[in-house]
Amino acid sequence: MWGGRFATGPDAIMEEINASIDFDQRLWRQDIRGSLAHAAMLAETGILTREDVDVISAGLKGIEAEIEAGRFTFSRALEDIHMNIESNLKDRIGLAAGRLHTARSRNDQVATDMRLWVRDALDQLDEQVADLQLALAEKADTYAGAVMPGFTHLQSAQPVTFGHHLLAYVEMLARDRGRLRDARERMNESPLGAAALAGTSFPIDRHMTAKALGFARPTANSLDSVSDRDFVLETLSAASICAMHLSRLAEEIVLWATPQFGFVKLSDKFSTGSSIMPQKRNPDAAELVRGKAGRVFGALQGLLTMMKGLPLTYSKDMQEDKEGTFDAVQTLSLCLAASAGMVRDMQPDLKTMKKAAGLGYATATDLADWLVRVLKMPFRDAHHVTGRLVGLASSKGVGLEKLSLAEMQEVEPKISDEIFAVLGVERSVKSRTSYGGTAPANVKRQAKRWLKQLAKD
Ligand code: ARG
Repeated sequence: MWGGRFATGPDAIMEEINASIDFDQRLWRQDIRGSLAHAAMLAETGILTREDVDVISAGLKGIEAEIEAGRFTFSRALEDIHMNIESNLKDRIGLAAGRLHTARSRNDQVATDMRLWVRDALDQLDEQVADLQLALAEKADTYAGAVMPGFTHLQSAQPVTFGHHLLAYVEMLARDRGRLRDARERMNESPLGAAALAGTSFPIDRHMTAKALGFARPTANSLDSVSDRDFVLETLSAASICAMHLSRLAEEIVLWATPQFGFVKLSDKFSTGSSIMPQKRNPDAAELVRGKAGRVFGALQGLLTMMKGLPLTYSKDMQEDKEGTFDAVQTLSLCLAASAGMVRDMQPDLKTMKKAAGLGYATATDLADWLVRVLKMPFRDAHHVTGRLVGLASSKGVGLEKLSLAEMQEVEPKISDEIFAVLGVERSVKSRTSYGGTAPANVKRQAKRWLKQLAKD
């Protein structure tokens, strides 16, 4: 490609370190799409003749069909996807192929290809996150009133409902989608026509190619156009946050599925057995979702580190943006699919969850609130009295509801037997009617709101 300046070819090791075709061949669709738009613009502006461009376009479409059919041979000697396609074009149509690269460089070409690829990836991830939200919202709707323990510090805190817990993830995922969409919005500008770095002396029409490729506008600065990879970084950071959310959900599923918790049963489809212990049902899918988050974070960290010292504009280091990005997107996509499948199949054990909800004096706050509401006690005093009652129950090894009225009145004489009503877990969740609280009626309303919203998206 640059034989004019070189007397010998590259060393074998040079070829190996330099070639990106093994991984960037997946950009072939984007590369051909960009070239078709560029060629059409070159004809429209009179930079190339219509005849040349017709031949070029037909050639590119031929290549597209051949790659699609799996009959194209990619060559390492031709380095990357751009040169593999251009060289094949030359074999097909001869001289005119060399004219396609007028007013363009691989620098703006690869930046364009990457943006097109990342944009599709963002759209696909958004759809998959929405599907996981749907799976969660459907379960939440079914189990809006199913009482389970709510934890802080992984210690019993207050009863909540399973639906409420699942909807917490729906909210997190909604913000993840917001981040993916923001990234898409910001990155949707066309670098094509920035050429190597400085722009070009040919009378190109960058607005035309931008429009043809579905970009909102061309990028405004040619140096920035070929240097920028923050659109990839933004995508990876949104992907990392989402992977972190999936990992937390996966961790909870792992815990819930243990015999000790016993809150949910995972389906056979998302569990594995042990080769030695016949009783085992392992939550491998959840563990892998948790584990694979590391790869997504790694891609982000790798790219940040790779970019941080690069002077403007393009440096070959930037070729290293691809493998991590492709892997991170594929990994997150797989984790989203596995999470949605697991959630859809997972069966909660309502009795076990409800029983667990009462452990650890989880209704102590309800008792304190009763002292405030009914006896008009200041909350701090109520906290103290309740603490003593919990201490008493604990010393007897029973739950609060098992203390007799007489025993309670020894701690606080004004307590009446009305208090027993607030000590049940059902009653506790029902009372949490504040906006965003766990009362089943609230949860039902929120689940319905999400189901409606997700049907629209
Ligand atoms: N394969 C290269 C990459 O992925 C394409 C751009 C090459 N540009 C250059 N000036 N060598 O970054």
